[in-house]
This record gives sequence, C-alpha cells and structure tokens, in this order.
Amino acid sequence: MPVMSRTEWPRISSRRGYDADLEREISAILGQMTLEEKIGQMIQAEVQQLTPDDVRIHKIGSALNGAGIWPKRNRYSTALEWVQMIEPYWLASQEGFRGRPFSIPFAWATDAVHGHNNLFGATIFPHNIGLGATHDESLIRRIGRVTAREIAASGIDWTFAPTVTIPCDARWGRFYEGYSEDPELVMRFAPQMVFGLEGDEQDARDAHSVIATIKHWLGDGGTKWGIDRGVNAFPEEELRDVHAAGFFSTLNAGAQVVMLSFSSWESDRNYDFDPGSRAAYNGKLHGSRYLITDVLKEQMQFDGIVITDWDGHCEVSKCTLQDARYCFNAGADVLMVEARQDWLAVIHSTLEDVRTGRISMSRIDDAVRRILRVKHRARLSLKEQPTRRELVRKSQHIIGCEEHRSVAREAVRKSLVLLKNRGQLLPLSPEARVVLAGSGAHDITRHNGGWSLDWQGRNVSLRDFPGAMTLAMAVRQIVGDERVTEWEEVKSSGGPAHADAAIVVIGEESYAEMHGDIQPWRTLEYASLKPAYREDLETIRAIKASGIPMVIIFLGGRPLYISEEIKLADAFVVAWLPGPEGGGITDVLFAREDGSIRFDFQGKLPVSWPATRRSFSIAHPGVSDGLAGGEAVLARREEHQALFPCGYGLNYTSASHISDELDHIALDPEMAEQHPEPPSENFELLGPNVTTAFDLKIAGNGCWVGVDVSRTEPLDMMLGRVEPIDYLGHKDALSLAFNGFQGRIASLYIQLPQLETRHLCNFVAAGGVLAFSVRMAAKPAGTVLLACHNCFPSQGALDVTHLFSGAPLNRWVELRVPLAELAETGSEFCHINVPFMLYTAAELRCDIGNIRWELQPKAVVPGKATY
Ligand code: BGC
Repeated sequence: MPVMSRTEWPRISSRRGYDADLEREISAILGQMTLEEKIGQMIQAEVQQLTPDDVRIHKIGSALNGAGIWPKRNRYSTALEWVQMIEPYWLASQEGFRGRPFSIPFAWATDAVHGHNNLFGATIFPHNIGLGATHDESLIRRIGRVTAREIAASGIDWTFAPTVTIPCDARWGRFYEGYSEDPELVMRFAPQMVFGLEGDEQDARDAHSVIATIKHWLGDGGTKWGIDRGVNAFPEEELRDVHAAGFFSTLNAGAQVVMLSFSSWESDRNYDFDPGSRAAYNGKLHGSRYLITDVLKEQMQFDGIVITDWDGHCEVSKCTLQDARYCFNAGADVLMVEARQDWLAVIHSTLEDVRTGRISMSRIDDAVRRILRVKHRARLSLKEQPTRRELVRKSQHIIGCEEHRSVAREAVRKSLVLLKNRGQLLPLSPEARVVLAGSGAHDITRHNGGWSLDWQGRNVSLRDFPGAMTLAMAVRQIVGDERVTEWEEVKSSGGPAHADAAIVVIGEESYAEMHGDIQPWRTLEYASLKPAYREDLETIRAIKASGIPMVIIFLGGRPLYISEEIKLADAFVVAWLPGPEGGGITDVLFAREDGSIRFDFQGKLPVSWPATRRSFSIAHPGVSDGLAGGEAVLARREEHQALFPCGYGLNYTSASHISDELDHIALDPEMAEQHPEPPSENFELLGPNVTTAFDLKIAGNGCWVGVDVSRTEPLDMMLGRVEPIDYLGHKDALSLAFNGFQGRIASLYIQLPQLETRHLCNFVAAGGVLAFSVRMAAKPAGTVLLACHNCFPSQGALDVTHLFSGAPLNRWVELRVPLAELAETGSEFCHINVPFMLYTAAELRCDIGNIRWELQPKAVVPGKATY
C-alpha cells in the first residue's frame, strides 16, 4: 500500500469548472445584499432551535436536523411529515426576500451517512467500512443514487456525507465512517459516492440529486491514540499524502462542500494569525487559517463552501460559542450552530466585527460568493417548494422501496469478508440443523451501528426498522424455525445439541462519535472490552468443546484482536455494520438446495487486521520516513502487526489452504496490566502540598474542551469567573463564580495531563474520601454535581447539592464525600484521569481549596465536617 507522494498540494480541477456568467450574476447579487443578509447566509442553525420566522427575519441560509432529531420528536415521522416540517422554513426564506431584487434559495441538510438513516423506513446501507470491503465502485455509486433519491423525496437538499477520513487507529470511535485505511482506495471509492449523490449535470437538473459534503478536513483519522476530536501531530507531508487523499478525488469529482474536523493539528505551520486575541491558539482545525485558507482555498483553489462542524468554532481557544470571529477569519464560510442564543449572538458579534473592521468585508463577500455559487450549481433555485416536488409526491413509493433495499442487500453480500473456512464448512446446507448463539444474533443495534435513527444507534429496536432482518431472523427464514436451536436452550437443557453447525454472531455494541472511542489504557482485545464480549468468548469456547462445527460472524466497526475466536472457529466471517438487511449475509452463508453456491464471497479487508492486542495504529509506508515526525511513524509501524493485510479475503474456491494455517496462529501472550504503584498516602489535587502535575480547567456544555485556569491571574468566561486566592498557602485555592448563564453547565475540573491515568482502587477499598474545603458566598441556586472520570463521557456523577447548601456562608468548612458513593455512580477507579470535577448549571459562588483524596480519612471532627 505505498502512498502517492507529492511535493505540493495539488490544484483541484473540478468538473464544475469556472462559469464567468455565474460569477457576474453573483457579483450583482452581492452588490445589492445588506450586511445582515450576508451574515444570515453564513449561519446554519439546528431545526429545534430555529423557527420559520427566524429564517425570514435573519435570512438564515440553511438549517440542519441533527442526528436523532425528527419532526415533532416523533421517530416514526413519514417523509411527508418531514416535508411538512421543512416547508414553512422554505416559504419563510422566500418571504424574507420579498421585495428584494434577488432571492436566495434555502437549503436543508442532514446526516445521511449510510442511507437516509435519520428517516423511519428509509433504506439503510452498510457503513462505509463495509462499502470499502466491497471494492465495488459502481455499487457505491448506485448507493449514492438511491440515498440521494430518498433524501430528495423527503424534501432535503444536502447531506453531510461522504466521510473520506483515513482511519489510522482502531481505537477511534468513528473508524467505521472511513472506507479504508488505504488512501488509494478512499481516493477511488469516495468520488463514486459523490457522483451518486450529486449526479451528473442532467441528474442535478431533474432534482434527483443532493449536495454532498466531504468531511472532515483534515486529519481526523490520525489523532493520537485514536481520540475523537483529538490531536493530529503528523507532518504536513503525511496530512497531504495520506489524510487529504479522499478530498482530492472527491473535489475533482465536483463536491462543493468541505466540513471542518473537530481535531487539532500540532505543527509549527499551523500558525496563529491573530496572536493578540484571547488565549493562545490551540491548533483546532476550525481556526487553522493555514489549512483552510492557505492550503484548501488558495493552493488547492477549492471554490466551494467550508462549513464548520456542530458548534465546532467554540472549541477554538480564540472563540466562544457566541463569538466566531477567529473561525470566520481563518476561512470558514458557513457556521453550524446549535443553540438559538448562540447563533443570534454570533450574528450580532459578527455584524459588530465587520463594522469595526475586525472581519473584513472581503472575507464576508468571499464566504457569501461561495454559498451562492454552491446553491446555484445545485440548482436549488429551480427546485419547487418542498411539498410540490415530484419525488416528494411519490415518496411513499420511493422511501425504502424494494428496488432500493435490494441494492442494500447486494451491498451486504458483497461486503462480507471470509477469513477462514476450515474443511469447507461454508456454505451451509439450507437443510442444516443450526445452533444460534452470540450477543449479536438478535440485536439490530449491533447490525446497524451508530447514526441509525438514533445518534449513537443504541436507543432503537427492531420495530424502528420496518422489514429489518437480523441475522438470526435470516437464518430462521432459510432453514426453518424447526431446525434452529438457541444456544441458551442447549445450555439450560444441559444435553448435547444435534446440530450440523453453530452460527455464533459476536459484535460491538453500537456507538458513534465521542462515545465510541476505546480508551488509551485499554487494548484491542474484543473479549476484554465489555462483559457481553467476554461472554461471547466463553460461548465460543463451550461450543468448541461440544464439538459442533462453528461459524463465527463478527459485526463491528473496526478490526479488533480476536485471534482466539478465529482459532476456535471453523469458519470466520467479518460482516462489518451491515444494517438491517441480514438476508444479505445468509445469501452467502447458505448454498442452494442442490448444494451449489448461491453467492460467493467478494469482500476484501479494507483495513489490516491486528495480530496483537496492541496493534493499534496503522502507518503508511512511503510517507514521512525521513521527515520531521517520521520517528513517530516508524514507532507506529513497529507497534502495528497485521494478522491479515488490507486486501485479504477468501472465497469458496480459495479457502482451504490458508485457513488451515489459521488453526496455528500464535496468540498474543497476555500481559498483566502495568499500573504505577498506587499512592500510599493522600493524593493532593489542589493546595500547598500538591506534588503531581495537573491541568486545572473550566469547561461548559456545548464545549467540552476545557480552558486552562491560570494559577496566578483571574479568568473571565461567559460561564463565570475563576480567581486564584490564598487559603493555606499562596494562591493555593480558587474563588469560583459560575453565573448559571442560560442554564448551561459549567464545570471546574482537575486532570492528569496527556490522558495519563492513575490506578486508585485502593482508595475505595480503604474507605477513602474525596475531601475539600469550601467557603460559600451564597447558597447554590440549583443542583451541584461531583464526579471522577477516566474520560468523558463514560461516568456518572453524584448529587452533592445538599453539602453545598448545608455549608455556612462566609466560613471555610470541609466537605468529605466517600469515594464508595462515587464508585456507585459508575466511576472506574482503576483508571482515573480526572480525579475531581465539580459542575452545575446553576449559579454557584464559593471559594474552594485543599482538594484531595484521603486514603485513611481521619475521624470526622464534629462541627467541622458537614458530611
Ligand atoms: C459530526 C458531523 C456531523 C454533524 C451534524 C457532528 O457532531 O461530527 O460529522 O455531520 O455533527 O450532525
């Protein structure tokens, strides 16, 4: 998989081309637009926080529905109900330009990332990693076409797909959104999706097409430890030759929108263009003038829209939710903002910035020119109002129709990768007696993965996907209920099962961004990740012991370490995240009645499969070796050991020889987890005796990236003020004034740097407490919560409002919370990264200091302790 190495950023040669007449027309419109109208076009708001009147008054250019957001909060809304929701916004936008010499069409966007996945009854396709396994470019194009028809039939114009990320670390929770780890393959496959979604010029005219978005610019798949929204530290050459590959081909294919990545890029070239403003620039892509303007717009000459991700501007240290100046000046054209008060505030602050010259008029005009260009090229102004559109009128016959679902089933069939087939166990006879087992057999969420009617894909059931077929249902359909026994029944009857084969469906619980990361202190070993996965391994061992020939089907969004499972299986199939067309799997697993093959395996691994528990990261040979950062690349390469290379996959004619070898694969010897010696005395977090280096931070909801609290100077934020004060020593405590601003959560937390974790179970076992001193300036105005985290967002929190309300005013007292109570909320003490977090959405004014974990708490002094 050598990577194409370039010496510079290539210039895009889009099939859209330059249209002088269009540019003149746009100039004429720009010349007549007011500043307010221009800024309105630059805002994309979330539908729950936007009314049609808002669109009319502020000339808002577009809206989106977030994942898991449906009309009237009804997940069963039909396409027509979607259109009825959209129509008033569309009409309001037209109304907004009444009396003006021009009109600008409104656009509605959604995340249709594996089919129109937010719409009940729509056709759901395998996630991109499965499509990458098909290696079938024309199929990917047809999937794009079907998806576009279903999106258009619900009155929507724009999708946030395809993702062209190059996932390099299997711990990343968005791994499955990428087609492949191989940039060459992504370069080949992703443009097909664009052609499918956007159609050729003819398609665009007949309204069967939607606007595609290429995301996320740039390097989201290359963050350290695979952390979502994390830090990519690779040299520019690797960003260009590996991570940008899919952008080159999709932008050439005519895609016109690029979405920014939440991640940051750690590099000297990622400069701060406004060093005087606010905090030091934290390298977030949303503020990278180098990568947005210098590279994408100037060197590559991309002439479409750069859109931000969901409230992504506020993660730039130079911005807040309500002030996006730095982000606009870096080159963002459309700002995706969720909350009403935020987009309203951004409109006001941006107006002010233009009036005072902090954002130039030419920057605004550049953004609006791009928006008008893209809207024009997508022929949005030729589209009728949503309810009158041809496809909308036929939507009942389009959404989830048989023809579309047969494409999904074909995709499932073609995405399956056969890793092993000892003794040609597969294909099975349709008359086989089958034992069904494994945590995934009946679980539709494990088939679908995230972004499936629900954001994380968890909060759904079979009835949410009409006509869905889990693998268990598909097997029963082929062999008949009478030939199927559930493993649970076999186990409880204690007797031997009279079966020709066991089909064990194992797989990952559904997840999406943020929640899906495997934490840096874990390995890739499937059985170690969740209790249900461990049970799967035990089931596999038991079935092996029972002597029933066994096929294992793995459902999942990333390659995990499953060498023992592969070794114990007779046949092993990777089915990725196939979606609800389970019949596509049985099409291949079962032969015809006369024993002939119905469909052979075609899928090839789009990613290399790990041979060890710690084969986390994929490095790309051919880039970066001699460059700055090359050492890190080499280290990654050494760490990664592949059991199967990218491109591997058997079929019914090639199977036997290689699969025998798999019976002898070496298992990665289990390594005891290495923990630093747990502290044998109190663990001091804030106060005069602290010896550990901690980051002290303030964060708020909508913006989880904390801001560093200075140990010497006061910090003022929208959420309140923090000021270092003297308590037991010099500036060893903090004065906290959270203002409960708009009911948003504000938090103060203490974190070990670099996601380091501490093994602190001994504190819980010894009956330790989390103790701190407070001096209340006022009673808290609402709920106050305390938490300890190994990472966001995995743990619960303890309501400690009564402690804060019970504390006297203006006098220091000590509050002591048994760690066992925090343990009950789900905190995991073997890997603590944030040993203290206090948060509230209410006003809270107090001084706080001497924060520590006490191993052997001293006796509670009556009158002093309030707990
Ligand atoms: C994701 C994007 C998505 C957007 C809109 C974000 O959280 O990172 O990929 O398009 O939400 O739903």
